[in-house]
Amino acid sequence: MTPTDKDRVWIFDTTLRDGEQSPGATMTHAEKLEIAELLDDMGVDIIEAGFPIASEGDFRAVSEIAKRSKQAVICGLARAQLPDIDRCWDAVRHAERPRIHTFIGTSPLHRAIPNLTQDEMADRIHETVTHARNLCDNVQWSPMDATRTEWDYLARVVEIAIKAGATTINIPDTVGYTAPRESADLIRRLIADVPGADEVIFATHCHNDLGMATANALAAVEGGARQIECTINGLGERAGNTALEEVVMALKTRSDIMPYETGIDTKKIMHISRRVATVSGFPVQYNKAIVGKNAFAHESGIHQDGMLKNAETFEIMRPEDVGLAATNLVMGKHSGRAALRDKLRQLGVELGDNQLKDVFVRFKDLADRKKEVYDEDILALVTATAADG
Ligand code: KIV
Ligand code: ZN
Repeated sequence: MTPTDKDRVWIFDTTLRDGEQSPGATMTHAEKLEIAELLDDMGVDIIEAGFPIASEGDFRAVSEIAKRSKQAVICGLARAQLPDIDRCWDAVRHAERPRIHTFIGTSPLHRAIPNLTQDEMADRIHETVTHARNLCDNVQWSPMDATRTEWDYLARVVEIAIKAGATTINIPDTVGYTAPRESADLIRRLIADVPGADEVIFATHCHNDLGMATANALAAVEGGARQIECTINGLGERAGNTALEEVVMALKTRSDIMPYETGIDTKKIMHISRRVATVSGFPVQYNKAIVGKNAFAHESGIHQDGMLKNAETFEIMRPEDVGLAATNLVMGKHSGRAALRDKLRQLGVELGDNQLKDVFVRFKDLADRKKEVYDEDILALVTATAADG
């Protein structure tokens, strides 16, 4: 990975760190290993496997994921403290390609917590990034709450981190406060103004408190970021993080206006989405983009008729591209005759026009009473119609 790969966007997945920090989303050791393997197999570039100093369990998980990694860089998180960084290195060093990610809150609100002056914090950043870089040649540094940090101070500490040896500078929108234009401008300005910025990769890490995490991440890429931090299903603190499946499919689907590539095998999206939902205990909302139950489902007659004639009428992505077998034409009270005929064909039933008319009347009557009409219901209607006729 070098800053010259201008059109490649690196996907940094933090499901196992930021995602797992979501209250109630704790995963077992075995589940973490399974998710890490799926992430590696689907082509995620960097896996943030955990926060090694946080617990013995996190340390064990990060170490084991590091040992088992195949392609991906394995990253661990560490606060701006030397023992954190040492612990992180002890876990990630087993990986073929390890990374230390160290961070500190730089906004006025966050500086007040350790009660450090701007100068004291700047010294701490220099010391900790230098220490991390002495251990590992792949170091990521994050000014937490960057989007609420004063511009001058942000530019100053980013420069310090670069000079101390950081190879990736991540700009977190920790509380989901920024908006797309601002997200793009901030990265663009940092790259233009900070000495040494062209030597490193800029990353974007967006939270979804205002529902703008995906838009902000994509805008940051427009501004020059080349690493997107994200999670499967958008899992993460509070309203979550940028959803991996959303940014990846947006870049694939709108490559006409966003000509950036990722290394993700999109056909593996649905499977990992379901596994993360199961192991985290966080179900995916039905209308969630890309991976929701209804993302490729149609019930209304007009939509179903359009879909049967040309799938592009109501779908901008192919279900196969995200690992689904096919579009789901849900049979309900809004469905039309064309969809019923198609469904019957799939079930191996071919009816003449008059028979279809009779079954359709019964179908509408049933659909008015039931939310969804299943294949078994439809076959029963055919049998009943034939018996009565
Ligand atoms: O949201 C955030 O600021 C973080 C940092 C630790 C990168 O998750
Ligand atoms: Zn975060």
